[in-house]
Amino acid sequence: MSGWLKIVGLGPGADAMITPEVTAALSDATDVVGYVPYVNRVAPRDGLTRHGSDNREEIRRAEQALQLALEGHRVVVVSSGDPGVFAMASAVFEALEAGDAVWRALDIQVMPGISAMLAASARAGAPLGHDFCCINLSDNLKPWALIEKRLRLAAEADFAMAFYNPRSKSRPVGFERTLEVLREACEPERLIIFARAVSTPDESIRVTALKDATPEMADMRTLVIVGSRQTRLIERDGEPLVYTPRSAL
Ligand SMILES: C[S@@+](CC[C@H](N)C(=O)[O-])C[C@H]1O[C@@H](n2cnc3c(N)ncnc32)[C@H](O)[C@@H]1O
Repeated sequence: MSGWLKIVGLGPGADAMITPEVTAALSDATDVVGYVPYVNRVAPRDGLTRHGSDNREEIRRAEQALQLALEGHRVVVVSSGDPGVFAMASAVFEALEAGDAVWRALDIQVMPGISAMLAASARAGAPLGHDFCCINLSDNLKPWALIEKRLRLAAEADFAMAFYNPRSKSRPVGFERTLEVLREACEPERLIIFARAVSTPDESIRVTALKDATPEMADMRTLVIVGSRQTRLIERDGEPLVYTPRSAL
């Protein structure tokens, strides 16, 4: 069997944040499969077919990639950030588990990428320097009640929190509710970071207190980080630094 399947992360946006391992896989590929904006990040070249598809088509896209690899193609499935964080690696394995048994013999590899929470954290300082959790605020694949339960328990356990998919046009109220839940559980001065389009020309990093945060500060290109009780801000000339000390009482 000469085909293979590599499930890779393209990082948060900048080419400099794509790992050499992923660059090599893309150079060797005959086919790139993924959500249209991510596929468009791979430059066209002779011998490469780019298969872009819509956002909600993950399983169909995964099946297409598995089938192409079975037919002998060298296939790269692309995600933004890391492919194992709210992205295509799980979708491919869901399709693999439910699908044709012959797919299980394929050469399949997952290649990590820089996830948005790590790029955002690095821009702000080190807010994830102690225990933290990350939560996807989209209720497309889980009920809102579960999101709210996890938010409350994470706040009670005093984790720093990284939020993916905070707000979209089709989900305008979820993040408003998130802020309400956090305000019930956390002190008003709790630090919150809105990191938008990190590592792209549209990048912006905004640090504020929970009491001053508004839903409009987040959109689908934003990664939100809420500090723990220990998270601090160092004022200095230029941008402040936000960090969470390594130890807790
Ligand atoms: C479907 S998730 C994909 C996450 C991706 N697999 C990762 O590891 O970063 C998309 C969400 O990631 C976050 N995101 C992706 N790229 C980003 C960037 N450059 N800056 C800020 N947030 C980003 C946003 O919260 C966005 O709604």
